[in-house]
Amino acid sequence: MISNKIYDLMLEQINAELFSSYLYLSMSAFFEEKNLRGLAKWMKVQSDEEREHAMKFYDYLVTVGKKVILKSITAPKSDWSSIMEVWQDTLAHEKKITDMINKIMYQAVEEKDFASINFLNWFINEQVEEVTTVEEIIAKFEMIGDSKQGLYFLDKELGSRA
Ligand code: FEO
Repeated sequence: MISNKIYDLMLEQINAELFSSYLYLSMSAFFEEKNLRGLAKWMKVQSDEEREHAMKFYDYLVTVGKKVILKSITAPKSDWSSIMEVWQDTLAHEKKITDMINKIMYQAVEEKDFASINFLNWFINEQVEEVTTVEEIIAKFEMIGDSKQGLYFLDKELGSRA
């Protein structure tokens, strides 16, 4: 039901989503170590979401009768020079993931694989949302600058993510 090309791209995407989960968990651990419990919580929730993204591709491949083959996951970065660098890395990573999703969508459109197009639409929307959210968080950190008080409140705000 799906071409080998789309199959390969989706296997690659499972790996990329699991890596994202790993990366955000590493960022969460970094924030925990800095006693920024709210930021740590935000990243932990994000890490869980990324695993769910991987599982969406996993379940789709199972549904279309393709065997899921898991690849090894690269160790993520574990240290950052500043809080801002963590968010900038997050934004750069989400842009990379967006490019990957777009590439699969492009292929599905080329092949007129309507089932895959329909499946991928959710990810197209999700990526817009994720990039926007991270851009907004970066704007907030730019706003507070070096303010310790600002950081305290932002940590509290982001920690309310369910
Ligand atoms: Fe699964 Fe953050 O994209």
